[in-house]
Amino acid sequence: MHSDVPFAVWSRERQRRIEDALVHALSSDAMPAPVQLGEAMRYAVLGGGKRVRPLLAYAAGEAAAADPAAIDSCAAAVELIHAYSLVHDDLPCMDDDALRRGKPSCHVAFGEATALLAGDALQARAFALIAQGGMQDRGSACALLADAAGACGMAGGQAIDIEASGRTLDVSDSAAMHRMKTGALIRASVQLGARCGEPLSLAETEALDAFAEAIGLAFQIVDDLLDVEGDAGMIGKTAGKDAANAKPTFVSLLGLAGARSRAETLRSDAQSALAPFAGRARRLSELADWIVAREF
Ligand code: IPE
Ligand code: IPE
Ligand code: MG
Ligand code: MG
Ligand code: MG
Repeated sequence: MHSDVPFAVWSRERQRRIEDALVHALSSDAMPAPVQLGEAMRYAVLGGGKRVRPLLAYAAGEAAAADPAAIDSCAAAVELIHAYSLVHDDLPCMDDDALRRGKPSCHVAFGEATALLAGDALQARAFALIAQGGMQDRGSACALLADAAGACGMAGGQAIDIEASGRTLDVSDSAAMHRMKTGALIRASVQLGARCGEPLSLAETEALDAFAEAIGLAFQIVDDLLDVEGDAGMIGKTAGKDAANAKPTFVSLLGLAGARSRAETLRSDAQSALAPFAGRARRLSELADWIVAREF
C-alpha cells in the first residue's frame, strides 16, 4: 500500500489483515480444541476491538521497512495476549464486568471456568504463533512477549491494580501500575513489530522505546477518562466501573482536565521521540493522535 494513503484507509486495511490472521490462528483446523473452549476463544477475540496493539506492531514494522506479511504473526500474538487479559480482567474475581466489546463478557456467555481456560489457552496460542512464525530470533521474541505479559508486566500490573483498589496511589505509583498493566504490552507490540524489519540504529531503537513508553501510559489514561466520560454504547463496556470498584486512576488523582492534559503531553512527547525516523514513522505518529483522540 502506498505510503501516502490516508490514515483511515491504512488502518482499515491493517484491521482487515489482522482479522484474517486471527480467524486463521483460531480456526478449528489450526487449533482442534474442544468445541466449547474453541468457541469461547473465538468469541473473545474475533469481530470486535480496536486492534490497537496489532496496528502499533504494523506501524513500527513499517518504520523498519518490514513487509506487512512479515508482521502478521507477531501482530496476532499481541492481540491474543490482550484478548486473554480482557477475559480475565472481566471475571467476577477481578473487575466483575458483564459487558465487553459491546457483547456479554466471555464468562457471562460461556461460564467462568470456560472463560478462565479460554484466557489460558489464548495466552499459550500467542506464544505458539511467534514460535511457529517467520520472525528472526523467535526465542528472544517469545522472551520479550513473556516479560511483557508476565509478573513484571501486564499480570504484575493487574496484581497492583487489584491490590490498590480502595486505596489511593500517588501519581508516580499510578504511572508505574499503568506502565505495567497496559504499557508493557504496548511496548512489546512496537518492539516486536520493529524486529520484523531491517535492523534499526541504536537511536531509532531508543526512539521507538520512548514513543511506546509515552503512548502506553497515555493509552491507559484515556481508558480511565472514557470510563468516566463515555457511555456503554460507545465504549462497549460498562461505564463508571472504576469509581464503582474504587480503582486508583489518573482521573481520581488529577481530575478530568488534569488527566486529559497529561494524556496530551504524553502524546506530544511520544511524537517528538520519533524524530530520528525523519518522517519514516508516520503511522506511529498518526496512531498516537488516534489513541489520544479516540472516543471508544
Ligand atoms: C482496554 O483495551 C483495556 C486496556 C488495556 C486499557 P482496548 O481499549 O485496546 O480494548 P479493545 O481491544 O479495543 O476492546
Ligand atoms: C485493564 O485495565 C488492563 C488489562 C490488562 C486488561 P481496565 O480494567 O481499565 O480495562 P477495561 O476498562 O476493563 O477495558
Ligand atoms: Mg482492570
Ligand atoms: Mg476492567
Ligand atoms: Mg478501564
